[in-house]
Amino acid sequence: MRRARQRPAVAAPLPHDSAVQHVSGAALYIDDLPEPRDLLHAYIRLSERAHARIARLEVAAVAAAPGVAAVMTARDLPAANDIGPVLPGDLVFADGVVEYWGQSLFAVAAESVELARAAAFKAVVDYEDLPAILDIETALTRQSFVLPTQVMRRGDAAAALARAPHRLKGRLAIGGQDHFYLEGQVAMAMPREGGDMLVLSSTQHPSEVQHLVAKVLGLPDSAVVTEVRRMGGGFGGKETQAAPIACTAALLAQRTGRPVKLRLDRDDDMILTGKRHDFIADYDVGFDAEGRIRGIALMLASRCGISPDLSGAVNDRAMMHADNCYYLENVTITSHRCKTNTVSNTAFRGFGGPQGMMAIEQVVDEIARRLGMDPLAVRKRNFYGLRRRNLTPYRMKVEDNVIPGLVAELEESADYAARRAAAARFNASSPWLKRGLALTPVKFGISFTATSMNQAGALLHVYTDGSVQLNHGGTEMGQGLFIKVAQVVADEFGIDIARVKITATTTEKVPNTSPTAASSGSDLNGKAAQAAAREIKSRLARCAASLWGGKPQDVVFAEGEVRLGRRSLSFAALARHAHRSRVSLSATGFYRTPKLRYDPKTHRGRPFYYFAYGAAMSEVEIDTLTGEYKLRRVVILHDCGASLNPAIDLGQVEGGFVQGMGWLTSEELCWDAEGRLTTHAPSTYKIPACSDVPPDFRVALRRGRNREPSIYRSKAVGEPPLMLAISVFHALRDAIAAVGEYQLSPLLDAPATSERVLLAVEDLRERLGRTSARLAAE
Ligand code: MTE
Ligand code: MOS
Repeated sequence: MRRARQRPAVAAPLPHDSAVQHVSGAALYIDDLPEPRDLLHAYIRLSERAHARIARLEVAAVAAAPGVAAVMTARDLPAANDIGPVLPGDLVFADGVVEYWGQSLFAVAAESVELARAAAFKAVVDYEDLPAILDIETALTRQSFVLPTQVMRRGDAAAALARAPHRLKGRLAIGGQDHFYLEGQVAMAMPREGGDMLVLSSTQHPSEVQHLVAKVLGLPDSAVVTEVRRMGGGFGGKETQAAPIACTAALLAQRTGRPVKLRLDRDDDMILTGKRHDFIADYDVGFDAEGRIRGIALMLASRCGISPDLSGAVNDRAMMHADNCYYLENVTITSHRCKTNTVSNTAFRGFGGPQGMMAIEQVVDEIARRLGMDPLAVRKRNFYGLRRRNLTPYRMKVEDNVIPGLVAELEESADYAARRAAAARFNASSPWLKRGLALTPVKFGISFTATSMNQAGALLHVYTDGSVQLNHGGTEMGQGLFIKVAQVVADEFGIDIARVKITATTTEKVPNTSPTAASSGSDLNGKAAQAAAREIKSRLARCAASLWGGKPQDVVFAEGEVRLGRRSLSFAALARHAHRSRVSLSATGFYRTPKLRYDPKTHRGRPFYYFAYGAAMSEVEIDTLTGEYKLRRVVILHDCGASLNPAIDLGQVEGGFVQGMGWLTSEELCWDAEGRLTTHAPSTYKIPACSDVPPDFRVALRRGRNREPSIYRSKAVGEPPLMLAISVFHALRDAIAAVGEYQLSPLLDAPATSERVLLAVEDLRERLGRTSARLAAE
């Protein structure tokens, strides 16, 4: 009887390795783990002022409360308080002043969460208010910045603007977004022998958590281990901001000598942790009668909150994506990084890129509306060229420009022209319901813009039964990184994927790692694991060659066997043989992304290994009497190169799109005049529900290969699809424009909540009334 042929794992649409566990509840998150004996639960008391001197902080009553084992304030720290990830500015506990509403004042560890929380509110806190800056406009007026303003420049924007036949100016406000990972921030710290510390942390960046925990405990990095099996979502929110949670738990564990768990409830999580940066984009654009941009001056200003956190890189990426797919010959992009008395904003899927892209998409859409052209025609007219007009404002050549072809393909498959005509017909005969559509492209740069971070390591063990244990520095947050890297390893060894054991990320196995971020998890860790597998394979091949006689390079690993000419052994038998021959079956692998160089001072170079592309067409229907709307149909064509796993990638595209749609439609963050977040629970903060997913939702992956020799010629997919949702925002603009028969451009900021849509409709009607009154009077 012949065995069924074992198919290669790479490119197969395998399910997520934890899919069944995810849906059955068997997947273990930190809060699901069996609790260690003597476990204490921590609670953080948050500040109730945006900016104030702490006149008095009395915690004696907290310490004396029932069940309390320890209280720690800034005064009780054994070593450092500052845990800024890149630059100083982020404190474990407020020291003398509070700088935003929700800042951590102190933490308490008690026998239960309830006791810890009850105790925390027994503290006496007196504040003396200081003036607070809460929004971007005020920060701009006061020149309040966390980092120096940056300018990216090419050509002469001012001269081109002055010469251009047409010119328009405007402003777009773009809202922030809460990560709303299903699993909130959580850590469990467990003291080990000799003062060492093990920290289980829901983090995208175990090495940084290890480093910062060591720093606040006054230990060397080598005495701290950070481990994470999986996160229930990260989305950038656990890149730097898992650290304060882990540090707080570790401090209390060190103080008490007992394990401590700290899990934020949803409200505290939303108040205490940073979000996507909200932005203001001011544009001044000059263009010709065909809609081609001649010159543009863009001002981007973001609300960074109180500290730099990752705001430098986030705002740099916003600048680098303010071209999207469009060639900007004469361009000046100015980026202000505003310091405000609000929580420090952080990484969020797209990392500033989405905000930069929103700015330029607004510009091309406005140009189209001014000229009375189809917005898609204006978009196409400004696309990067294939051979000329292909240099980005930061001087990286767009080498694999698939956008014109990809957009043409989608235009055809989504039936753009016919559907546009149908919407116009519908609108002509529908006084209150209006339909709109938009097709928008995405180009997203892949790599960390901080070149040094583009590295990864892996550790592989082959056991004598032929099973393989895989570890690498990447973390699993639902995105399917672990299965993709396992697929790579299975194919290198020619073994069944079931023989590859996926293990938790730990700083003990692979040290000094970068965060799993910038969508490059599978690019980096896939290559590192491949390198480790190839090292072991070459040893095994030498073994086989000396056993049978022949050349190691002729040894083939396939279908669970190792072959040389007509001789063969099972992979397990060869592993056993190698072990008996005293050959090591364990190896590390390392990878660094080639070709990268970037000067962050001049904003020039090649920050990205390559670009990922996509395009989406969205169709909406709005009710102009209420502002309510429905997303009716979405068609997406996305470029993942030669996909490592089309099932996972499809999930990333769908999920990314829906998350982006939430950002631009229903997810609205509100702060009151005192700087208090008023939307800190699902009751007031509306993420998309299943019913918000369009009833007609078609996603296709474009056939293709990465031009660069990335892992199996695949492309990163984690973040880029989020920006496909910009099409929803523009479809809404299109539907609103229909109210004025496309003669006026709608005034609409993001998120386009029903309220904003209604106001935009009413504003348009009013302007229309004024125009017709003027015409009648003339
Ligand atoms: N998908 C799921 N299910 N959960 C997540 O938290 N994070 C996104 C994206 N997709 C995320 C996700 C973000 S912000 C990034 S940077 C990438 O996944 C990180 O993983 P990767 O580099 O392996 O794609
Ligand atoms: Mo993703 S924002 O790079 O974690």
